Parts: sequence; C-alpha cells; structure tokens
Amino acid sequence: MREVSLTEIFQHRIAQKYITRSGLAHAIAVAYHAFQLAAQNEVDVDTATKAGFLHDIGHYTWYKNGKWDYELYRQNDIHAIKGAERAHKLLIRLGENPVKAKEIALAILFHTDSFLPGGEVVRTPLQSIIKLADEKDEEPGGAHHYRTVEYDRALRSLKQLDEKINLYYSKS
Ligand SMILES: [Fe+2]
Repeated sequence: MREVSLTEIFQHRIAQKYITRSGLAHAIAVAYHAFQLAAQNEVDVDTATKAGFLHDIGHYTWYKNGKWDYELYRQNDIHAIKGAERAHKLLIRLGENPVKAKEIALAILFHTDSFLPGGEVVRTPLQSIIKLADEKDEEPGGAHHYRTVEYDRALRSLKQLDEKINLYYSKS
C-alpha cells in the first residue's frame, strides 16, 4: 500500500521550491533509474523511487557573481544532510508511513560521500541504488542540474511512474 504518490510530492510547495532548484529533469530521471534498479534487485520500488526523486532536495545555491562557485560548494555543501531532513519533513506532512520516511531520509543522507571528511559508507541495498541511480544521470560539469522540463511534462512523467509502481505492486 502506498500512502503518498510521487505526483502528490511533486505538487507540494516545498518540492516545487527545492526540487526545481537542483534540476527537476534530473530528479525525475533518477527516480526512473531508481525504480528500475529496485525492481531488478528486489528492493521496495516505492521507497527507492521516492528517495531517487527527492535525493537532491537539500541543495543550497552556491553562486558568486552569477556563477556557480565549486570551491564554495566543496567547502560548505551539506545537501545530503539538509535533503534528508527536508524530504523527511515533507513526507511526514503528506502522511507518509514513518518507517518508510526514515528509510528514504537515510538513503538521501548516504547518496553521496561529498559531505564526509573521509572514508566510505557501508550502504544498504536501497542506499546503494540511490547512489547508483544518481550517478547514471550525472553529466560532466554538473550539467544534469541544469536540464529543464516543463511543469506539465514533469507531471505526466511522474503520473506514469506512479502507475508503473502501482502496476508493479498489483503483479507481485
Ligand atoms: Fe543528483
């Protein structure tokens, strides 16, 4: 049973504000990759898809004179931490199952090593899937954050993905 759909998440003002900031097209692409990887690896597809869609919701804008400043970003970025918290708050508000909301938040927290001072994280299968799904959509120079998609098209893609998830559950 799914408590919350991707479409509902997308339409919430918190998602509208922060997911568009780091690239809506990227968020949708990662959600699709996460669905596929989860289905292949017998990980819960709903949890994975939501974590994929929300993984970059914690980004702050590190601009200096109108240009993205990688040095500032590298020094100060905590998007995985911020994203975990922001996604969790949004999901709980929408009525998500708290166990699932926690799993999604942790998958977002561990989707990148960039905030860690050193050393690798030992990831659960779900957490590995979100990292991999993100890497599958990466483009040189962070170009994946700048691909755009119109609201209506984004909504249609997410509705389709919601239907794929529902179909997946009805078959299993
Ligand atoms: Fe990403």
